[in-house]
Amino acid sequence: MSTEAGRGRTVVYDNIGALVTNDPSLGEGPLGILRRASVVTDGTTVLAVGPAGQVADDRIDVEGRGVVPGFVDSHTHLVFAGDRSEEFAARMAGASYEAGGIRTTVAATAAASDEELRHIVTARRAEALRAGITTLEIKSGYGLNAAAEARCLRLGRELTPETTFLGAHVVPAEYAGRSDDYVQLVCGEMLAAAAPHSRFVDVFCEVGAFDADQSREVLRAGIAAGLLPKIHANQLGEGPGVAVAVEMGCVSADHCTHLSAADVDALASSDTVATLLPAADFSTRQPYPDARRLLDAGVTVALATNCNPGSSNTTSMSFCIALAVRDMGMTADEALWAATAGGAAALRRADVGRIAVGGPADLVVLDAPSHLHLIYRPGVPLIRSVHSSHVP
Ligand code: NIG
Repeated sequence: MSTEAGRGRTVVYDNIGALVTNDPSLGEGPLGILRRASVVTDGTTVLAVGPAGQVADDRIDVEGRGVVPGFVDSHTHLVFAGDRSEEFAARMAGASYEAGGIRTTVAATAAASDEELRHIVTARRAEALRAGITTLEIKSGYGLNAAAEARCLRLGRELTPETTFLGAHVVPAEYAGRSDDYVQLVCGEMLAAAAPHSRFVDVFCEVGAFDADQSREVLRAGIAAGLLPKIHANQLGEGPGVAVAVEMGCVSADHCTHLSAADVDALASSDTVATLLPAADFSTRQPYPDARRLLDAGVTVALATNCNPGSSNTTSMSFCIALAVRDMGMTADEALWAATAGGAAALRRADVGRIAVGGPADLVVLDAPSHLHLIYRPGVPLIRSVHSSHVP
């Protein structure tokens, strides 16, 4: 959580055991791993990447530890108040996960003042940073009216430029039986209030939330307002979400837990990133998505925490990486890539998720010799220090 060279001085992180650059031209394999390496920054930008022993004004000896790019968490619902631990406990005892739980959080969020909400969300962002997440997306979706959605996005924007309008998260109780009317509100007044604070538009395309036509309508309206489309797709069962994602040119289709062969083919022939959210599948007792099948088909895969109070209350990207390797058929290298460069692809960001000369000085020093230990030592706090130039 530091920018050592922030006062115009340069700093070298020296004596790195295994450095993941995500630039294959710099080192071994797709992660471009350099051993016995060093990185020089000016606190804002990476100035040099090379063998150990480079010189700068200041020196941090990381004593053989591993260094990875800051994690890029491309899917979170960070702006929320309240607690749904009892719903979680009931689920662990056999109850099923339902989209309607979202309304509980809408009520708790509405009851929090701006100051209270800002305090909660800032603390949550700090927790994510301690977990190594230097770039993070934040969705709305716990407001569900124009003023409340705009408020959540405004607060999210104080913490990240990567904000997503998710007014179409669930149909609020007052629109029960009138979901098309709610979609009109989302595409009209709500979008107008939200768009100035948003980079992306998103919709929860699922039984119990929004159907394919409603999802198309929301995405079309968002695109017309200048936003990039994303979608919650195929989380709780097979459905039209992925097909809509590809048809609408979504930047990412998120969840992808239940995919048909046609869904995999469609993703493989598109630019849509499949963002997998294993902590949600863990916490809702769903099967895990088959990442191997997606990777073998040539799909770009991202891993994200999906931090939210209902289905995935965690900021631990390390946990997601461990699940992805243990249960989704990813190698350790693929999972690390998906949590860094993959997340960057899911946000259409070419600058983050790698350690490259001219790129941002976002580095995570591990309390371990390499990223393999994130899976080998699950549950152990291995994020030793986070160095980021641009986190507010
Ligand atoms: O991504 N799927 C929809 N939205 C969240 C869950 C939100 C909630 O249950 O509060 C998700 O899992």
